[in-house]
Amino acid sequence: MKPIQVGLLGIGTVGSGTFEVLRRNQEEIRRRAGRGIQITMVADLDVARARAIVGEGVTVVGDAREVIANPEIDIVIELIGGYGIAKALVMEAIAAGKHVVTANKALLAVHGTEIFAAASQRGVMVAFEAAVAGGIPIIKALREGLTANRIQWIAGIINGTTNFILSEMRGKGLDFDVVLKEAQRLGYAEADPTFDIEGVDAAHKATIMSAIAFGIPVQFDKAHVEGITKLSAIDIRYAEQLGYRIKLLGIAKRRPRPNAAGDAAVGIELRVHPSLVPSKRLIANVEGAMNAVVVQGDAVGTTLYYGKGAGSEPTASAVIADLVDVTRLHTADPHHRVPHLAFQPDAMSDLPV
Ligand code: HSE
Repeated sequence: MKPIQVGLLGIGTVGSGTFEVLRRNQEEIRRRAGRGIQITMVADLDVARARAIVGEGVTVVGDAREVIANPEIDIVIELIGGYGIAKALVMEAIAAGKHVVTANKALLAVHGTEIFAAASQRGVMVAFEAAVAGGIPIIKALREGLTANRIQWIAGIINGTTNFILSEMRGKGLDFDVVLKEAQRLGYAEADPTFDIEGVDAAHKATIMSAIAFGIPVQFDKAHVEGITKLSAIDIRYAEQLGYRIKLLGIAKRRPRPNAAGDAAVGIELRVHPSLVPSKRLIANVEGAMNAVVVQGDAVGTTLYYGKGAGSEPTASAVIADLVDVTRLHTADPHHRVPHLAFQPDAMSDLPV
């Protein structure tokens, strides 16, 4: 079968990683998806730089609308970020009947309801594993692995930049500004790091998780958002002396909220703020740019997910997981429509006997 054709909008750190991982693991990915996945077209404002990254055989254009207008393209990956042009392009891609894979947490946290309604009406998929906690498959965990549960709460370190800053300030006694620059150099921080340090990026991600976990619309405007800019080295030291670590947590919690009739309607708390976490807790020991999410379900109890929440290949890992899912579902082969129930050995015949 002909590979599914993918168009990529915006090739930066994550886009380059997506190319590299698709190339390196192409055989495994093809087997798991049931057919090849090929990025055949890339749009980026810097055409020359994009060409140098993708090499021969990929069409590079400066105008994203050329990708959306191409009838050969089945899936559009949006890695531009932000709420502006990215929103217009995602809506146009959906209207053109393309499936969309996006890492854009800001866009989904603010405009997700409108985007998903448009996708559902047009009969296309919008997949967004890479939007929350980078390489950690937390969206899949919430949507699939924990689907039997009534989720009670989620608490996570879901911004690598701020966790890196807090860890370095505590461990090496470095100043906030010095560590922020290092986080930017390492490619963890957003283009505008205000989103990281003011807690907005974590709130975007917590909003998306709350929508999936509690079956509510995305409601970023209702989140309480507080970052780490008011913290100083002395806060971190005092916390340590009292047996705590300071972590920027994104928290979404189900809470009974009695209504006028006295019935216990359910309310959801959605908040991001620096929190005192007892030093002995696993999540207190998540250091550097790593992410971790704790999910409490009524049936499963407490579960913990840990991994790299940012960076080129960890985020590419999530983008490609979505490409594989969308490819399986798009491809009219019932065997691949139930990938999680099918036993599909990857390389049985390659094993030595
Ligand atoms: N700026 C984000 C972070 C990148 O630091 O976690 C991944 O979303």
